[in-house]
Amino acid sequence: MAQSLDARPADAADDWTIPQQWERYTSAEHAMWDKLFERQAKMLPERVVPEFIHGLDILRMTRPGIPNFEELSERLMRATGWQVVAVPGLVPDDVFFDHLANRRFVAGNFIRTPEQLDYLQEPDVFHDVFGHVPLLAHPVFADYMQAYGEGGRRAAAAGAIERLSRLYWYTVEFGLVRSDDALKLYGAGIVSSFTESVFALDDPSPNRLGFDLKRLMRTKYRIDDFQQNYFVIDSFEDLLDQTLNTDFGPLYTELATEHDIEIETILATDRVYTRGTQAYARAKVAA
Ligand code: PHE
Ligand code: FE
Repeated sequence: MAQSLDARPADAADDWTIPQQWERYTSAEHAMWDKLFERQAKMLPERVVPEFIHGLDILRMTRPGIPNFEELSERLMRATGWQVVAVPGLVPDDVFFDHLANRRFVAGNFIRTPEQLDYLQEPDVFHDVFGHVPLLAHPVFADYMQAYGEGGRRAAAAGAIERLSRLYWYTVEFGLVRSDDALKLYGAGIVSSFTESVFALDDPSPNRLGFDLKRLMRTKYRIDDFQQNYFVIDSFEDLLDQTLNTDFGPLYTELATEHDIEIETILATDRVYTRGTQAYARAKVAA
C-alpha cells in the first residue's frame, strides 16, 4: 500500500512521480535486493499462486539487481498495459487511485537498509516491485487493480475510503487464494515478507476465512504485526467479478449504519478455513 498525506516533495512532479535514477543504486543496494529475492525465491514456489511465479518469469524479474522501471514497464506494458513509476514514498489517496485507474503502479525507489531486513514501516522497492508487480502481468488481476483505482475515486466522493482500503488490505496486500485443496499466497505484503510468508499459511494462530465482500469491509485490520485474520478468495476471476459487478454506492450507505467487526471475530455466517488460536497475537499483548 502506498498512501498517506505528506506534502509533495519539491523534486516530485504534479502526479508525485520522480525519476527512478536506476544508475544511482550502489552495488550494496543491488546486493540487498538479491539477498531478499533469494530468500523469497527459495520459499515461495510451493506457497505462492503459480501466476506470481509466471509473472516473475515473463517480466524477467529473476535476473539479479533492482529492476530498472523503464525496462520492467516495457515488458509489463506488453503483457497487460501496466507501467511501474517511481514515487518518493507514500502518496495521497487521490494520487494513488489516479495512477491505478490509469494502469500505473507507484513504487518507492529506495531499498531498505540491512537493519530493516525483516521489518520496515514504509514500503520500499522490494515490497512494491517484488511483492506487487508480478501479478500485474496477470490480465485478471491487472483489471482488478485498475477497477480498484476507479473505485477509489468513488469511495473518496462517498467518504468511504476506509471501507475500500480494507478491501485493498485483505486482498492486494494480505490475500490468500484457494487452489485445489490447498491455500496459496498472493498478497504482496505476505509474498515480500520472509516471516509472514510462512506464518500466513502454516501458523495455527490466525483465522483464515472465506472472502465475503461486505463482511470484509466491516473488518478492522492491523498494520503493526502479522495479520490475525486472512480472507481467502476462490480465484482472481471471482474476486474481479464480485467487486466489478457490485455497485459499492449502496453498500457504503448500508455499511455506514453497521458497526465494525473486531479483527479476530468469527461470525456464524463465516466460511471458516482455519479457526485460529490467536496464540501469536495474545503472546505479543502479554509481553
Ligand atoms: N465496483 C466498485 C464500485 O462500485 C469498484 C471496484 C471494482 C472496487 C473493483 C474494487 C475493485 O465502486
Ligand atoms: Fe503494498
